[in-house]
Amino acid sequence: MSEEAVVAKKGPYGVVVEKGKTYWWCACGLSKSQPFCDGSHKDTGFEPVKYVAEDDVMVAFCGCKRSRHMPHCDDTHISIKEEDINGDDET
Ligand code: FES
Repeated sequence: MSEEAVVAKKGPYGVVVEKGKTYWWCACGLSKSQPFCDGSHKDTGFEPVKYVAEDDVMVAFCGCKRSRHMPHCDDTHISIKEEDINGDDET
């Protein structure tokens, strides 16, 4: 089980959502269908976050998986360092 989600992208994914449609935002960072869940979280302990579109609009979904307002980008990605993206503790 991972402690931190994988940084899928150091920035948001802009997606035009459809009013009334349900989306599942990938929280683990492993999905191949970013920013949405493809089931890759199974062994991680993470669960996708449900998002129901209230309008036909462009939404900036968090790609770094560190947002405090997930599934939305809140600019937390700006403070992410390269070592956080790699996810290793190498010295
Ligand atoms: S992409 Fe995660 S906070 Fe912006």
